[in-house]
Amino acid sequence: MRFDVITIFPEMLSSYIGESILSRAQKEGLIEIHTHDLRKYSKDRHQKVDDTPYGGGAGMLMTPQPLYDAITAVKKLNKGPVVFMTPQGQKLTHTRAKRLARTNDSMILLCGRYEGIDQRIRDMLVDMEVSIGDFVLTGGELAAMVVIDAVSRFIPGVLGDMDSAEDDSFGRRFGGKKEYPHYTKPAIFKGMQVPEVLRSGNHAEIEKWRMRNLK
Ligand code: ADE
Repeated sequence: MRFDVITIFPEMLSSYIGESILSRAQKEGLIEIHTHDLRKYSKDRHQKVDDTPYGGGAGMLMTPQPLYDAITAVKKLNKGPVVFMTPQGQKLTHTRAKRLARTNDSMILLCGRYEGIDQRIRDMLVDMEVSIGDFVLTGGELAAMVVIDAVSRFIPGVLGDMDSAEDDSFGRRFGGKKEYPHYTKPAIFKGMQVPEVLRSGNHAEIEKWRMRNLK
């Protein structure tokens, strides 16, 4: 899966995507993440990407020229849908993340800043709008990282085990099933003991205990 992210803050993404599972997935060629600095596409001599809204109102809007040029340039590299990150979009869920992973080989994630982007870009170039929740972030970058993370977990091999995105606690929970409590070492922590049965080695009893303790 290839992700291309258009943003005025490319460095915001690099630390998150450069660590842990997403970093390994990139090294193994399972996912590719490219960032594109929107300012580089601005024809303004100060690399301006925002302006005041027609009709008045608070705040600034992202102007169409840099967005148009960035999106059309990135579309030559990535044939996937252009996904605009916005609180007005379709809500990202476990199911939608899975569907995005299964139905696309690539996607272009567009991060807004300020009060939003010029409507003509949405009408002309945006294929899908996605929200990560009913709250307003200061920009789409965090939301784009959430989409990349949640979608990547469904790419075979990213979690090291093909079924694990479905099999993990969230997969089970969102699949309507419950989850049992988990414990790791030490056996006693601040006076609290791990249930004896989990240390017994008796797999039938462990399974029974887990089924009785589903939450
Ligand atoms: N940009 C700002 N807030 C957002 C949200 N909740 N989801 C996606 N993109 C956003």
